Amino acid sequence: MEIPSYVKNEKLKSWVQEMVDLCKPDNVRWCDGSEKEYDEMCQLLVDAGAAIKLNEAKRPNSYLVRSDPSDVARVEDRTFICSVNKNDAGPTNNWENPKEMKEKLLGLFDGAMRGRTMYVIPFSMGPIGSHISHIGIELTDSPYVVANQRIMTRMGKAVYDALGADGEFVPCLHTVGKPLGPGEKDVPWPCNDTKYIVHFPEERSIWSFGSGYGGNALLGKKCFALRIASNLARDEGWLAEHMLILGVESPDGERTYIAAAFPSACGKTNFAMLIPPEPFEKEGWKVTTVGDDIAWIKPGEDGRLYAINPEYGFFGVAPGTSMDSNPNAMHSVTKNSIFTNVALTPDGDVWWEGMTKTPPPELTDWQGQPWTPDSGKVSSHPNARFTAPAGQCPSIDPEWENPQGVPISAFIFGGRRSTVVPLVYQAFNWNYGVYMAATMGSEKTAAAAGGLGQVRRDPFAMLPFCGYHMADYFNHWLQFGRKIPNPPRIFGVNWFRKDENGKFIWPGFGENMRVLKWVVERARGKAVSVESPLGWVPRYEDLDWRGLDFTPQRFQDLMAIDRDIWIREVLSHEELFLQLYDKLPKELIFIRELILSGLWRSPEHWGLAPERA
Ligand code: OXD
Ligand code: MN
Repeated sequence: MEIPSYVKNEKLKSWVQEMVDLCKPDNVRWCDGSEKEYDEMCQLLVDAGAAIKLNEAKRPNSYLVRSDPSDVARVEDRTFICSVNKNDAGPTNNWENPKEMKEKLLGLFDGAMRGRTMYVIPFSMGPIGSHISHIGIELTDSPYVVANQRIMTRMGKAVYDALGADGEFVPCLHTVGKPLGPGEKDVPWPCNDTKYIVHFPEERSIWSFGSGYGGNALLGKKCFALRIASNLARDEGWLAEHMLILGVESPDGERTYIAAAFPSACGKTNFAMLIPPEPFEKEGWKVTTVGDDIAWIKPGEDGRLYAINPEYGFFGVAPGTSMDSNPNAMHSVTKNSIFTNVALTPDGDVWWEGMTKTPPPELTDWQGQPWTPDSGKVSSHPNARFTAPAGQCPSIDPEWENPQGVPISAFIFGGRRSTVVPLVYQAFNWNYGVYMAATMGSEKTAAAAGGLGQVRRDPFAMLPFCGYHMADYFNHWLQFGRKIPNPPRIFGVNWFRKDENGKFIWPGFGENMRVLKWVVERARGKAVSVESPLGWVPRYEDLDWRGLDFTPQRFQDLMAIDRDIWIREVLSHEELFLQLYDKLPKELIFIRELILSGLWRSPEHWGLAPERA
């Protein structure tokens, strides 16, 4: 194997050699991140029958890729945290003994790249050279991964310079798991029914076998930037979070940065790229985007928290994205983008459900079959994705590449709850905020009239992404808050509350700006609020309603806190707490008691107008 002279890191060289000996690829290619290399990768995908180059006039330099129908999403049940001690992974992660897992993987990876090329991808999560950034090296036999990583990460030669002779990197090994025999013809999207997405937290390494899709294969994202990085963050005193980062610019020109966590499929990308309603926009309010999925946050010397987006692109869910729901995302994908598992139009462009109100009369669906609106099925896979350079987003924040990060003034946590949880509230203090985030969740089933649906708790939106025991993670957050002199304020939101007719009460999307404005002003110590049993809340007159016809009564419905329902809600937190009990920080149990007693002391239906209470 010939190693380029600019690669100086001995540890890296010997690891690559070891993995070449194990995986036995026909060739090794050291990627330089150039445009030429990107074009070659895309051409390989086209030649293999996996990709189609889109119409250059409509969607310049862009491709549609179709995956195998069996390989379309992250596989959480095949995702493992193999810490030395089972109890360090905790009950919410799959665990296997790391020695046994390594043996199994050595067997699977032995010869797994036969007949293929191994690509060596140097990438930086975060701006190269930032003290918050980290370097990874991904070895993969998938040109699709190489092309996507060039959009999703800072990839290329400069990473080797930053790594130097003895810098640290996270080794990420990936194979689609389909070696080719001599003369064997390849399939367009090679993958394997056996899949393993494995993390060794003590070793800080990732081994991924059998899938070529998304977070299973683009190892910088969920595997490194969340599961491995959450371990680094705990040990080194920072935070690796499943959060978007946005800036709110007020008419006086001051920008306030906010990090927000929502479970998957709750509109994070839309929120990160929000366009304020007209009266706000005219007055000079603006939302800028730093990131849409992941935040790495470190305390600065001034005691404030500084965040970077470790990613370089967006890997967003396509269906539902439109000029109505998210014009900034639509503008981001006009060129230089990869679309996976969406439909193809007759003139060589892409379409997906929700992009336009009326679907085109004919399409080729995500599996390459002819499609019409009466086909009785969707044209795009529900988890179809776009991969687009973040720099193409019209709302991208001017500081998004600042190696120092942006200062965070508030955290927002939100789930998808059709009942129970009010539109917005501010935690009384850091510990209340941690409790709120720890118990957030989304409905699995519709709520029975006036009651609680079955809720999937998704603490901090990190349930599938925390690389260690969830209760240790709560403890890390509690500890972290203790050391910061003036920690960001913590807010809960719920855009999804419904009325008795099953209709969303809150219009959402751009109108969320009204909530953001209150949050920003609270974080700056300006906006007015009142005390509720859950935290500080705005009264009707504390929100800016210009340009929206929304009655005080509607607002009451949105903000109501029903004592009986909330007592049941708080009791239902017990289920999660019992699961984590051996390591659960006692503070959370005390906060629970405080919330319960607050509920008892407050009116039965807090927040309802007196004549309705
Ligand atoms: C994602 C997810 O793809 O959270 O970002 O599932
Ligand atoms: Mn995500």
